[in-house]
Amino acid sequence: MFEHLQSIKQRFGIIGNDSGLNRAIDKALRVAPTDITVLITGESGVGKENVPKIIHQYSHRKHGPYFAVNCGAIPEGTIDSELFGHEKGSFTGAATTRKGYFEVADGGTLFLDEVGELPLTTQVRLLRVLENGEFLKVGSSKVQKTDVRIVTATNKNLLKLISDGKFREDLYYRLNTVEIDLPPLRDRKGDIHLLFRKFASDFAQKYGKPAIRLTPDAIAILESYEWPGNIRQLRNIVEEISVMEEHRSVDGETLKHYLPLYRKRFPTVIASETAHFDFNKDREILYKLIFDLKKDIDTLKSQIQNPPKTLHLTENYKQQPTVKQTDEGVEIIYQGDNYDDNKPHILNDPPIIEVDQYQEESLSLQDKEIDLIQKALDKYHGKRKKAAEELGISERTLYRKIKQYNLQ
Ligand SMILES: Nc1ncnc2c1ncn2[C@@H]1O[C@H](COP(=O)(O)OP(=O)(O)OP(=O)(O)O)[C@@H](O)[C@H]1O
Ligand SMILES: [Mg+2]
Repeated sequence: MFEHLQSIKQRFGIIGNDSGLNRAIDKALRVAPTDITVLITGESGVGKENVPKIIHQYSHRKHGPYFAVNCGAIPEGTIDSELFGHEKGSFTGAATTRKGYFEVADGGTLFLDEVGELPLTTQVRLLRVLENGEFLKVGSSKVQKTDVRIVTATNKNLLKLISDGKFREDLYYRLNTVEIDLPPLRDRKGDIHLLFRKFASDFAQKYGKPAIRLTPDAIAILESYEWPGNIRQLRNIVEEISVMEEHRSVDGETLKHYLPLYRKRFPTVIASETAHFDFNKDREILYKLIFDLKKDIDTLKSQIQNPPKTLHLTENYKQQPTVKQTDEGVEIIYQGDNYDDNKPHILNDPPIIEVDQYQEESLSLQDKEIDLIQKALDKYHGKRKKAAEELGISERTLYRKIKQYNLQ
């Protein structure tokens, strides 16, 4: 059985020896020859999409059609028509009669990915076709029959969707006659470095460079990382490092720069790192800075143009003083217990703000970005690490920007 499993993994490009993974593949092989409905569960990026392919290939339907439909990617308005087809003229734009996936997959397997995203009305149709193989095209009253094996997958908690009223309970029990759960990468510690090496070799080929390797401290970091995006995230990170790093031997410090959640456990080390999968984060931070800056400028401008009637000089006075512009200058009158003379106090040298000379500051994003980067570099005498921390972007991003803008 073990050898059989290995050959299946090889055939489907599945890397790993974890017992949870092996159990999932073994389960897929056992249910494959039956027509049992299978629900595949597991976090995002764990490799759920491999399982229905195995089920189809090891079933009596393997010479029949196989379709994978991402339910989350089809707009609500067209999903019924995509799945069940429609009659000519059934809605605006339905110029011809169209077959849906349930019709074209007759005799084969239909993989409904992200099944938790199906609208409730579609769930009713799906339940019916699962019960007796019957369905209606949109706009038709003619019952059609189909013989399709359904495999579904989700990274959502369907029980939660049921309690939120977004998923039908009867459909849930119909779909998960057998459930195959794929373990998250953090529970497959032994497979992490294996996957890393496989991806490193794939990207070495793709980019025509030697494969990246990890030093022992980097391997330890890699294996203790939580991998919220699982194998997909690991793959993306290996690709990024393969392209970005000159040195093909990657140590722990370098690796950390590519692991966004690392800062959670080592707050002082990577406090300002950028999220890897959120590569626009640095830009976002700059945008926010600029936005705040613009708000400040607007406030200042409006204060200059409409000076406040009352100056908030101190909290000690029961009443705020009143301020008047006179020929002699700005007159401030304090009234209240702290000033018994109630005489005006004249400020002969009021601060002069010359509105006309006010320079409109450039609000171009690029100018702002350059300005902020230059300021941060000046502040830390060109020390990029410190400057990057101050800017809230990764050192790598800073380096890229320095080059891009030709900064010193
Ligand atoms: N065991 C594995 N060995 C090698 N590559 C894998 C393995 N499992 C998954 N992958 C790769 O990881 C990526 C993510 O896998 P997949 O698309 O199946 O995730 P998923 O579980 O469907 O996630 P989601 O719920 O976000 O759709 C794919 O590029 C896939 O080829
Ligand atoms: Mg998927």
